[in-house]
Amino acid sequence: MPRTVLEVKNLTKKIAGKTILNDITFSLDEGEILGLLGKNGAGKTTTLKIIVGLVSKTSGTVYINNINTEKQFIESIKHVGAIIENPEMYGYLSGYKNLIHFARMSNCKISKSEIEKVVKLVGLETAINKKFKTYSLGMKQRLGIAQAIIHKPALLILDEPTNGLDPQGIYQLRGYLKELTKQGTSILISSHLLSEMQLLCDKLVIIDNGKILKSGSLDDLVNTNAEKLVEFSVNNPIKAKEIITGLFPTKKVTLDGYNVIIKIDSDNIALINQEFVKNEVVVTGIVTKQNTLEEQFLDLTREE
Ligand SMILES: Nc1ncnc2c1ncn2[C@@H]1O[C@H](COP(=O)(O)OP(=O)(O)OP(=O)(O)O)[C@@H](O)[C@H]1O
Ligand SMILES: [Mg+2]
Repeated sequence: MPRTVLEVKNLTKKIAGKTILNDITFSLDEGEILGLLGKNGAGKTTTLKIIVGLVSKTSGTVYINNINTEKQFIESIKHVGAIIENPEMYGYLSGYKNLIHFARMSNCKISKSEIEKVVKLVGLETAINKKFKTYSLGMKQRLGIAQAIIHKPALLILDEPTNGLDPQGIYQLRGYLKELTKQGTSILISSHLLSEMQLLCDKLVIIDNGKILKSGSLDDLVNTNAEKLVEFSVNNPIKAKEIITGLFPTKKVTLDGYNVIIKIDSDNIALINQEFVKNEVVVTGIVTKQNTLEEQFLDLTREE
């Protein structure tokens, strides 16, 4: 059984009578990457801030490495590295000196070679001796991540870390986050971009209006909605459309040249195919277009 590194139970936050978070529950195992996904204002930052103690909760419990953060805050927060909002850095110091400073503050013994390893991991070797104030946004983000991981936290928490990164930077970030999990770090990351989360995370928690809409592994989430777009390539699309309409009178059938497209669950593909064969419609191809998580996410979070 994998070890649970973070457990969030029934978290609720109210501000001035307004419910910002409503009964949020999820957990994260060792070496996993969990994506907290939601559109602007969904409650991502608030959730992360509560976990690290930057904001108080109204009710609920948070355990980090099985330690109750309310009862033993200092003990629990030792295991966490986080970037929520812009990390505080000294502009007049070099990236390297900023890291040394934070290493000292974290009260852990961190050797120079370990700092160098982290610098290499985030790809800052050439810029590390330049002053922080001369860094580009991407370089600042990288240094922030270096700072967050320098004390080898069991849990790394990142609030929208790809904001302001270029595609190459995002690609590299993905690479080193995955590298970190191999060393046993668990990562909780928030984003409003599903496409990005799909490439990085093992599990997703989708929140909207402070509530969990869905959560689970990527596979679970993609497969729960059984209906997919299916494209039949046939010799007689008109007849094929008639046959499908006969079987499913309420479904929308689209024609595209010799292709007939319909949204059905996989069980009905065989049925349609059988009917085609019976009625002498020749099928030369069947392509299932995955109902992507993106569509589901948009469906889920669409305004009423
Ligand atoms: N201190 C506060 N006082 C009042 N409302 C707040 C406060 N902090 C957050 N909120 C509200 O709580 C909701 C969730 O905010 P939060 O910042 O957690 O969302 P988010 O998912 O991080 O959004 P974004 O993608 O824009 O960063 C928003 O409606 C926000 O206006
Ligand atoms: Mg936010």
